[in-house]
Amino acid sequence: MAVRKIIRMGHPHLRQVAEPVPKELIGTPELSRLLDDMVDTLHDYGGIGLAAPQIDENLRLAIIEIPGGESRYGEIDAMPLTAFINPVVTVNDPATTGYWEGCLSVPGLRGFVERPQDVTVSYTSIEGQAEELTLTGFWATVFQHEFDHLDGYLYIDRMQDSQRFVFEEEFARYWTEP
Ligand code: NI
Repeated sequence: MAVRKIIRMGHPHLRQVAEPVPKELIGTPELSRLLDDMVDTLHDYGGIGLAAPQIDENLRLAIIEIPGGESRYGEIDAMPLTAFINPVVTVNDPATTGYWEGCLSVPGLRGFVERPQDVTVSYTSIEGQAEELTLTGFWATVFQHEFDHLDGYLYIDRMQDSQRFVFEEEFARYWTEP
């Protein structure tokens, strides 16, 4: 297990379409080690999701862990740490809602992004099982943000209003309720 370095905006590898995780890799010690590294890295940097390309691994693989409770996003449900292999997102309803997003590869900044709020995700579990999840609200935003990394997109590509792209310090000062 090891904390890996997270590559940041400007590194060309964040902008490539990641390769599917080959079937033969699922269930191997090699993939377990990579997932352990991703978990250690996510916990060390502090965040709710990490995609493999963010640690410079060219694979369609991401982990998400949403602590529940009161947050700057309001009251949200918790989601235990889960790994998603080769996820595919289908939008069920194109109506969008916006949230302030941050990204470990774009440190120190926040941006307001509108995304669909009702999506279904098909993926392979770490056990190699085909799974499907339907996500609404904030969870839908989190999943789309993470899986965008697998296609070489960052949240800044999804922003419609560059005036709402701000530093964290100014975010806290000017953009949050007192
Ligand atoms: Ni991100």
